Amino acid sequence: MLHDAAPTAPDTADVHPPSAELFDEPSRWRAEAARALGLRGEALLAGVSPGASCPSVLHSLARAILAHSIANGRDRLDVVVDLGAGAGGISEWFRRHTGAAVVAVEPAPGAREAAASLFPALTVRKGTAEASGLPDAIADAVLLSGVVSLIDDLDAVLAEAARVARPDGAIAIGDLFSSRRATIRSSRNVFRSVESLTEHVATFGWEVVEVGIGSPPPDASWALAAAAVDRWIRRHHCDHPAFDVWSADQAHLTRHVEQGDLIAACLVARRSSGWPG
Ligand SMILES: C[S@@+](CC[C@H](N)C(=O)[O-])C[C@H]1O[C@@H](n2cnc3c(N)ncnc32)[C@H](O)[C@@H]1O
Repeated sequence: MLHDAAPTAPDTADVHPPSAELFDEPSRWRAEAARALGLRGEALLAGVSPGASCPSVLHSLARAILAHSIANGRDRLDVVVDLGAGAGGISEWFRRHTGAAVVAVEPAPGAREAAASLFPALTVRKGTAEASGLPDAIADAVLLSGVVSLIDDLDAVLAEAARVARPDGAIAIGDLFSSRRATIRSSRNVFRSVESLTEHVATFGWEVVEVGIGSPPPDASWALAAAAVDRWIRRHHCDHPAFDVWSADQAHLTRHVEQGDLIAACLVARRSSGWPG
């Protein structure tokens, strides 16, 4: 397990990605709602971190990462680094389902507070996907869940993931993607096609070994918990200055899903055989 006192790369984490603002106050609200509603177990994870196609996509990612690890002669995951961990529900899911120690890296203070208070077994750290501040080669798997669709230029993210992953480690990505070949840029999102992201990771020496495709809404039980939290937030925080931005972002994503623009997908990549190139 990585403790906060462990030596790390220089702290370049005082960078605030613009899209992190959107998740700051709402992550606090999600944690508050989850407590008020008495959510427990998987409903708690779903309520605070309702990702696209969850939890099916998480099972696919965990299976593929473990299979990759076993193929490399290691029958368990020691460390998973979750870049852009938000309120920590997905990090906690991976901790519970894989047995790995999970380091949740997140730039938004409200999201870090939510993750640290709700899921004390996580190691929660300030940082970004471009500059996590973590040591080299500590992760059996680097997870990016719902994050690449918020980042315009992925080069620094892919370089950071490659630095933090062990030589035999994997990168696991779950997100919303364009349902067409063309990238969709809309508001703060960049929805790439699975093909274009596959080509992009290849330029950093990674080979995609597993792809899963699903429909964006979470599975029914996760959707129920997420909807209860959303309703609670609408009742209790509609006067907050951050509420309209949060609400508009939700409407924006719903519109793209209803138009058929988006799919949920997950990718697992390992170093290509020629690495280091
Ligand atoms: C859609 S949420 C997903 C959170 C979590 N990974 C999940 O799946 O529930 C996106 C998260 O990425 C964070 N984020 C935005 N830009 C980031 C960046 N450049 N580096 C790391 N995290 C970022 C946001 O603060 C937010 O917590």
